[in-house]
Amino acid sequence: MEEEKINFDYLRLVCWNLPVFVLTVNSEGKIYLVNDSLIKVLGYREEELVNQSVDLVFTEGGLVKEVFAKGILENYITIYLNKKGEKIPVVLNARLIKNNGVLGILFVAREIEELKQICQVYFPQVAKLVSLGELTASVAHELNNPLQVILGNIQLLVSELPRGEDSYVEAKEIEEAAQRCRRIVSNLLEFSRQKEYGFVSAEINKVIDQAIDLALHKMEISGIEIVRNYEKNLPSVPLSLAQIQEVFINILLNAVQAMPQGGRITISTSFMERSIPGRDSLGMKNENIQICFEDTGIGIEKKNLNRIFEPFFTTREKGTGLGLSVSYEIIRRHQGTIFAESEGLGKGAKFVIQLPVETRKKNG
Ligand SMILES: Nc1ncnc2c1ncn2[C@@H]1O[C@H](COP(=O)(O)OP(=O)(O)OP(=O)(O)O)[C@@H](O)[C@H]1O
Ligand SMILES: [Mg+2]
Repeated sequence: MEEEKINFDYLRLVCWNLPVFVLTVNSEGKIYLVNDSLIKVLGYREEELVNQSVDLVFTEGGLVKEVFAKGILENYITIYLNKKGEKIPVVLNARLIKNNGVLGILFVAREIEELKQICQVYFPQVAKLVSLGELTASVAHELNNPLQVILGNIQLLVSELPRGEDSYVEAKEIEEAAQRCRRIVSNLLEFSRQKEYGFVSAEINKVIDQAIDLALHKMEISGIEIVRNYEKNLPSVPLSLAQIQEVFINILLNAVQAMPQGGRITISTSFMERSIPGRDSLGMKNENIQICFEDTGIGIEKKNLNRIFEPFFTTREKGTGLGLSVSYEIIRRHQGTIFAESEGLGKGAKFVIQLPVETRKKNG
């Protein structure tokens, strides 16, 4: 066997019985090889899949293009479609197949349902969290409608009451409390991933400027100066705009709240290229845009640095402790990272976000 050339039939045999879904596409995005596990779950015959466009199985149009561009896809949650049109949620990993140039892509997927069952057996507490997430999502959803009614009516009432009267002040307080409830509900929905993500290619500096505009009033009345250190000509990044705006605004508002006496927020953007250990041979580079928000506020105690991204962790009297945990989830769904640095109380805080860029400059 040592000298035997590994031919296609041999490779097919190896893949055939693997307990994961294996699919490869050629350089044109046509299906080249599928294994038995995948064929069974999709309900097609092998010959109905081979040479067909991968769109037959993938529900997300741009995936093949994305992997050709980025060279890699890691633990990406997406949906496969079977012959009956039923949706199969999967966790997908992909690598380029290379041999003097790119021959295609290897996609390996596992069914989420199966992973969930494994979790339930081995990590019952994780399973509990998953169902807690589902419960949270449905409760948040249910609360949303009556909350809209409360808000709508109280706003009407506020507009009709004469300003300055006690009843006006009381109604205004109800309105503010209802607004806060709406924010919490919306954050909970975000947290349990009930919101739609739609990725578009965007220029990060512009997106930050828009977020600053939205928070400008709050920053101005708090006497906060904004310094922009943007790197020019940054490559565009695939972003789900509404969600990323929310992250930036959460961070800006946190900074404002950390500087009650005024201060400075410095926002810098830069391009970063890091090699991924062990993947250099595959020609994979990890290209990121890095965004830093640095403030001169109250700072964060060392012991809290890891806790601030936990849901409901707050040190603010009126905080809900959801801003950063939601932001963390949003950045994770962009396959990026977010972390905080602070030298301690009184020494300001820095929030760093790294987002993978859309295109690789060089292929290997
Ligand atoms: N720029 C900052 N400077 C100092 N502490 C910060 C800063 N940003 C966040 N923190 C700390 O992290 C905690 C969590 O922040 P997070 O945004 O998640 O919640 P919050 O601001 O308390 O409430 P909300 O849900 O209204 O955003 C804050 O309570 C605060 O202790
Ligand atoms: Mg906050």
